[in-house]
Amino acid sequence: MHGLVVANTVVAATACSVWDIYGSLQVVTIINTFLPDVLGTVKVLEGDGQVGTLLNVTFPLGTPGVGYMKEKITKVNYKKRVKETQTIEGGFLALGFKRYITQYKIIENNFTSSIIRSTIKYEVDDKLSNLASIVNTKLVETLAETVGKYLTEKKAPP
Ligand SMILES: *[C@@H]1O[C@H](CO)[C@@H](O)[C@H](O)[C@H]1NC(C)=O
Ligand SMILES: *[C@@H]1O[C@H](CO)[C@@H](O)[C@H](O)[C@H]1NC(C)=O
Repeated sequence: MHGLVVANTVVAATACSVWDIYGSLQVVTIINTFLPDVLGTVKVLEGDGQVGTLLNVTFPLGTPGVGYMKEKITKVNYKKRVKETQTIEGGFLALGFKRYITQYKIIENNFTSSIIRSTIKYEVDDKLSNLASIVNTKLVETLAETVGKYLTEKKAPP
């Protein structure tokens, strides 16, 4: 079965400034600085943020499963402000998913705010369809809120 979950996060920063972070490896720095206990620690294995860049995310201690995921950046569209990463090893694949893709789209809302649309697209064998219920947008929403706070306050969230 295929499925997707979507979350829209409104942030008080321009689409341009949000995309500067999401469209580059600055997002990795933000995760490693503010969210290591929530999202994990991201290591760039190869590449500079363009398509083909390989990342290794070590999940926080106590996370069930294999404890890490290897991700590949599969799309960076500067015009549409869309970025996609696909899990290529570990993470949800290790739990039995066939495909697990995260898409970030930065949408202009007005001159002072934008919307971060985070979409998780997945594919899982019909026999394991009960696994689909564990897919949610909690972590990507936390990331979106953190990027928003970083840009508006230039400091860590409480
Ligand atoms: C990815 O991270 C995991 C967990 O920290 C580690 O065991 C593994 O060796 C790393 N893989 C690479 C290619 O660095
Ligand atoms: C822009 O949108 C935000 C969020 O919807 C809103 O709070 C703000 O008042 C808007 N600003 C202008 C100038 O319309």
